[in-house]
Amino acid sequence: MPPAVDAAAFAAYVDVLRPYFELVGVEPPAQPATYLPDPAEQIQAAIDAEPAVLSFVFGVPAASVIEEARRNGIVVVGTATTVEEAVALDAGGVDAIVATGLEAGGHRVSFLRAPEDSLVGTMALVPQVVDAVSVPVIAAGGISDGRGVAAALTLGADAVQIGSAFLATQQSAASPVHREALRGPDAGHTVLTRAFSGRLARGVPNRVTSELTDPRAHAPFPVQNWLTGKFRAAATAAGMPELMSLWAGQSSPLIREDDARGLMDTLVASVDEVFGRLGS
Ligand SMILES: Cc1cc2nc3c(=O)[nH]c(=O)nc-3n(C[C@H](O)[C@H](O)[C@H](O)COP(=O)(O)O)c2cc1C
Repeated sequence: MPPAVDAAAFAAYVDVLRPYFELVGVEPPAQPATYLPDPAEQIQAAIDAEPAVLSFVFGVPAASVIEEARRNGIVVVGTATTVEEAVALDAGGVDAIVATGLEAGGHRVSFLRAPEDSLVGTMALVPQVVDAVSVPVIAAGGISDGRGVAAALTLGADAVQIGSAFLATQQSAASPVHREALRGPDAGHTVLTRAFSGRLARGVPNRVTSELTDPRAHAPFPVQNWLTGKFRAAATAAGMPELMSLWAGQSSPLIREDDARGLMDTLVASVDEVFGRLGS
């Protein structure tokens, strides 16, 4: 459902962002009729594509969606930022749960409390979720090398989900500027910001995250995401990291590999090495 942003409010949000549009030489857009494709249509398109796994964030998928995915042989994964969200996902019937700690790059996908009140670290979250649910748990957030994978498995996770480290590889769809930022000097100082999308997300700090800190300046999601998307696209094309959303997790400074296969091989060898060392 589109949020209630009338023409006057839309114009006020555009005014806040006007300097960024000027910097990239793009005219601020007019208010659109819709900001996002219909979620039901997106889910149907995903099911029709017959993926092995369908992974949800920001809530518990409807029972009818889970049933249809199952009928099509698709594993349904939900994502929790707190134990209570994990319990709700378990009760909702998902096949596995991603437990994502506050270290993670990208959006905080909380759905029972405000994301600011759902900031649990991976180390604390994973074992609590493992104890609270009946389905496999996938640890996410701040895992970028074999030591992190071994730690998550030791905490009881059945698998891990790694974002930032794969984002930095040449096979990812991230822009070269974004990949460079993941290895840059500010990657160790990531911040949580609502400036780009209206929703809380972790990334490398830049001009936009440091200037747009007043919550009154942020349009609600998806309006803010749609609006900033217009100058972010131009900034990405022009190689202007100060105006891009440089999503990154807290363990980005551990990133070494720039090839996805090489990263996978290194992770496997390193986990074996860690467990071998601990077992000896
Ligand atoms: C740029 C970016 C985009 C992401 N998009 C999604 C997404 O669409 N759906 C999702 O479930 N997780 C998404 N994530 C989260 C990752 O799947 C993963 O849980 C997270 O990056 C783990 O933390 P790490 O970055 O510290 O490895 C995204 C992460 C990043 C950095």
